[in-house]
Amino acid sequence: MCGIVAYVGHRQAAEFLIDGLRRLEYRGYDSAGLATVSSDRRLHVLKAVGKVDALAEKLKRHWAPGTIGVGHTRWATHGAPTEVNAHPHRGGDDCVVLAHNGVIENYRLLKDQLEEEGYKFVSATDTEVVAHLVASCYDKLRALETEANDDPYALPIAAINEATSKLRGTYGLAILLRDYPGVIFAARQGSPLVIGVGNHEHWVASDASPLAGRTDKIVYLADRQLAVITADSLHVLERDIGTVSHSVEALNIVADDVGLEGFPHYMLKEIYEQPDSLTAAMRGRLNDVDATAVFGGLNLSPQQLRSVNRIILTACGTSWHAALVGEYLMEELARIPVEVEYASELRYRNPPVDQGTLLFAITQSGETADTLAALREMKRKGHPSLAICNVIGSTIAQEADGGVYLHAGPEIGVASTKAYTSQVVTLTMLALYFGRLRHLSFEAGQRIIAQLRKLPDLVRETLEVNNEVRRIAAKYCHADNFLYLGRQFNFPTGLEGALKLKEISYIHAEGYPAAEMKHGPIALVDEHTPSVFVMPQGGVYEKVMSNLEEIKARGGPVIAIAAKGDKEIARLADDVIYVPECEEFLSPLINIVPLQLLAYHIAVLRGCDVDKPRNLAKSVTVE
Ligand code: AGP
Ligand code: GLU
Repeated sequence: MCGIVAYVGHRQAAEFLIDGLRRLEYRGYDSAGLATVSSDRRLHVLKAVGKVDALAEKLKRHWAPGTIGVGHTRWATHGAPTEVNAHPHRGGDDCVVLAHNGVIENYRLLKDQLEEEGYKFVSATDTEVVAHLVASCYDKLRALETEANDDPYALPIAAINEATSKLRGTYGLAILLRDYPGVIFAARQGSPLVIGVGNHEHWVASDASPLAGRTDKIVYLADRQLAVITADSLHVLERDIGTVSHSVEALNIVADDVGLEGFPHYMLKEIYEQPDSLTAAMRGRLNDVDATAVFGGLNLSPQQLRSVNRIILTACGTSWHAALVGEYLMEELARIPVEVEYASELRYRNPPVDQGTLLFAITQSGETADTLAALREMKRKGHPSLAICNVIGSTIAQEADGGVYLHAGPEIGVASTKAYTSQVVTLTMLALYFGRLRHLSFEAGQRIIAQLRKLPDLVRETLEVNNEVRRIAAKYCHADNFLYLGRQFNFPTGLEGALKLKEISYIHAEGYPAAEMKHGPIALVDEHTPSVFVMPQGGVYEKVMSNLEEIKARGGPVIAIAAKGDKEIARLADDVIYVPECEEFLSPLINIVPLQLLAYHIAVLRGCDVDKPRNLAKSVTVE
């Protein structure tokens, strides 16, 4: 789930490698490394544990010269995040050096074979196997080679093809070979790689972000393809086929050098951006004339739209929580049966899916490996597969049949906040849209639109709870366990509140439908385990109140998120965070805000790295 960058041209490669790695750091930040080859053909390898800054510091002390190089920021899958496990990895007697994104599933078997051949391993990674395997294939083919071939790269191409054909799993690879100075070999299967085309220079990266501001020409490498890249040439080949044509596309992204604008952390800044990001998600999408929502990019024919009789929402993590809210919304407003599937499960399940089923893959990054695989699987089966995505031009945005962009702007904090609320509001608009294609009346449509228009101001008002939340955070920040409880629309709010706390404060937290407590989890309740109740006014208020009484009866402290004007709650809860009253279908968007703030303040009080929490990455590009 790492980031790969590579450069060949006329400038010092290391400068781009560091800058590119910084832009890809959201993909993993447990260690980083780079390798360059200088004009005297010497290999320079630098690695550092921790963030890219640590590598940049090292580079200041030991410059890595050369106009060709590869770099990597790692999210460890095999082997601890140590310097020796950091990429790039060397193969043979340093005749190969490469960076890898992905997981090699049969690495054990290959490692045994290579060890028998005499290759010595220094790291615990699956990647080092690829490096030695390429070296082994290359050496064997070179020994066999008898006559000269017209293609100067025939030998390394054959060796890399042979090596990659033995790999099971996923890989994006940027490879340098000692015998071919000035050439980057890039290959992919399941892990995205793009190539930036410049004037006498080329860049390679796991996604387009490192290319912003450097070139506006991009080539997207496809699975099973291998690119042979020099400063002045680019050839793309497909395994078992040979050279294939490639199209150079226009790249329309600008470098997002996002500042903190006075906030101490990106997460807090992004929480505060929500009134604006919600406005951006709704801009141009609410239509008063027809009392519906409008979307430019669904790419579905009127006939397809009418025949939708089931919707599958698939996603991971926070985006999966947004999908759960979407399920309530779609079923309530559009009366369409909805299933929410973890993408990691959907990709390997073989559920019977009828015609008329529409898939939405929900993703902030657009790069999540499981979500991408689930989308591909459903596309393969012929179901229209759309994306609800934030990052423009990301892999999922490109591969989907159509979809809706969130327009939330770059989300830097690893813990997703504004993307979540933008996903939920987008799903609300989609529910309105499908509802209006069916039974939902004009008046009901108008009412929903009027409520949606008020939403940014309601969220702005909700943010006023910040100081109160900080006070409550200080009171509970030493707890080891938290429970988050809600019902109906706000059951997913509880799940998401718990996930936020887990991710950034490392406190164990569980989200449950409040009524489920008595079926087991209530055994966890004691005077040291706070329960956070999400209890807006609405159909199930009284029911949630009974669940709250059950916790109080067992001595558990209670923090309640309740609507302003709720007099009842103060009598029972230890602490109350009052939020603006709103329609029930909008309440997940309001109630999540204090939970985001609660997680944030607790994490800060515990001295955690809020924006880059341990063990996580912003974009999960391995299975
Ligand atoms: C969010 O706080 C998490 N870091 C994580 O669960 C995330 O939502 C998940 O990995 C899915 O990411 P995506 O939306 O970019 O696909
Ligand atoms: N599987 C490789 C490793 O553990 C690559 C992981 C990644 O994509 O960062 O080093």
